[in-house]
Amino acid sequence: MRIAMIGTGYVGLVSGACFADFGHQVTCVDKDAEKIAALKRGEIPIFEPGLDTLVATNVKAKRLDFTTDLSAPVAEADAVFIAVGTPSRRGDGHADLSYVYAAAREIASALSGFTVVVNKSTVPVGTGDEVERVLRETNPQADVEVASNPEFLREGAAIRDFKFPDRIVIGTSDERARKVMAEIYRPLSLNQGPLMFTARRTAELIKYAANAFLATKITFINEIADLAEELGADVQEVARGIGLDNRIGSKFLHAGPGFGGSCFPKDTRALLKTAQDRAVPLRVVEAVIAANDIRKRAMARKVAAAFAGSLRGKTIAVLGLTFKPNTDDMREAPSIPLITALHDMGASVRAFDPAGMEQAKELIPNVVFCDGPYSCAEGADGLVIVTEWEQFRALDLERIKQQMACPILIDLRNIYAGEDMAAHGFLYLGIGRPDRAGPKRL
Ligand SMILES: NC(=O)c1ccc[n+]([C@@H]2O[C@H](COP(=O)([O-])OP(=O)(O)OC[C@H]3O[C@@H](n4cnc5c(N)ncnc54)[C@H](O)[C@@H]3O)[C@@H](O)[C@H]2O)c1
Repeated sequence: MRIAMIGTGYVGLVSGACFADFGHQVTCVDKDAEKIAALKRGEIPIFEPGLDTLVATNVKAKRLDFTTDLSAPVAEADAVFIAVGTPSRRGDGHADLSYVYAAAREIASALSGFTVVVNKSTVPVGTGDEVERVLRETNPQADVEVASNPEFLREGAAIRDFKFPDRIVIGTSDERARKVMAEIYRPLSLNQGPLMFTARRTAELIKYAANAFLATKITFINEIADLAEELGADVQEVARGIGLDNRIGSKFLHAGPGFGGSCFPKDTRALLKTAQDRAVPLRVVEAVIAANDIRKRAMARKVAAAFAGSLRGKTIAVLGLTFKPNTDDMREAPSIPLITALHDMGASVRAFDPAGMEQAKELIPNVVFCDGPYSCAEGADGLVIVTEWEQFRALDLERIKQQMACPILIDLRNIYAGEDMAAHGFLYLGIGRPDRAGPKRL
């Protein structure tokens, strides 16, 4: 199959490279000329484990190429995927669909022969209808069908998720479109990837419902963590105790500083907006958004609690800035409101992240960016682990302690055990865990 992928970001580049790896002929298109020039030089503009090799292999095999001009690849394509951004619209929280519709208008004029235009971007229910209207209005002669194929990959594990998906959701009622989509994903049947065909609007809603549900799970365990702290219980054991129940499942039950990233915050907001427009109450999602927003700043109060409530004049070292490990994505990362709140409380902040520092420098002012965890800890009164990068899981604690002015560690991801930290002479605070070396001993 010939595929044109419009938008070469986290989703477009990973999907394009994986489709090429299945044996399809893929052209990735992006408006960002710098991004395309970098890709043509063999440079990967984002950090995603394994993506450099996958791209290089498929470029070498001549199954994958890059361009800023969509006309030729769209004309030749059996399927054109729209994988452009759908950020929160400024001011009201609806999904901003301007990039999707702009892409649809450009695609329309270039169509030739039967083509399936596939929305891979996360879009509110009814966007497929509007994309179809735009295509037919701009090019009434076009032989085109519009399908929905939401993407569920996770940054940091994107290639594995794409190649071994729990499910592939395809929304179309058209038989020809169904055949094209089945052919595109056929190589995945070897990996037992289950294809689910459904109506387009249903497919669009599945994506939002999935993200809202996962965000709810995270927020639920975060609130239980707060309660566990008050009651002297251990949230990690609570999570294990409930997660072993198959009806609940163990994933997304890790208490932490609140969810961030490029999807959950904007998608929960957009789902709520869609529901409000239809006068349908989504009280659970509403509560999840509110609880999560409050939580990120509240983490600064947790840090302050380790200093008897006052951070004025203190130096705080922050390890991990990206919204999760193995990505350089800083979109809506909890580190941003946390560091702002630390500044507001009068602290100075030093920080280190293995992949996100370049993006972070643009977003968080007045931070001393360091080149490693040990230099970051230098002279710090407290160290806060915000993102659970692998390299923070086995720090040389003696070395960290020697660097710090005061050995206080606040672990917002619970990657260390309180007893071990106490044995190393640290005053240690985790999330939702009993007070083994906690605040009352400080
Ligand atoms: N990032 C994720 O983990 C993830 C996971 C699942 C779904 N999604 C969804 O996928 C979509 C894309 O997300 P992303 O993180 O890859 O976004 P991104 O911002 O990383 O990439 C979008 C790309 O589209 C390009 N673009 C915009 N308009 C264009 C046009 N008219 N023609 C060509 N290129 C254009 C931009 O230059 C950019 O490179 C969003 O709807 C998102 O919600 C993202």
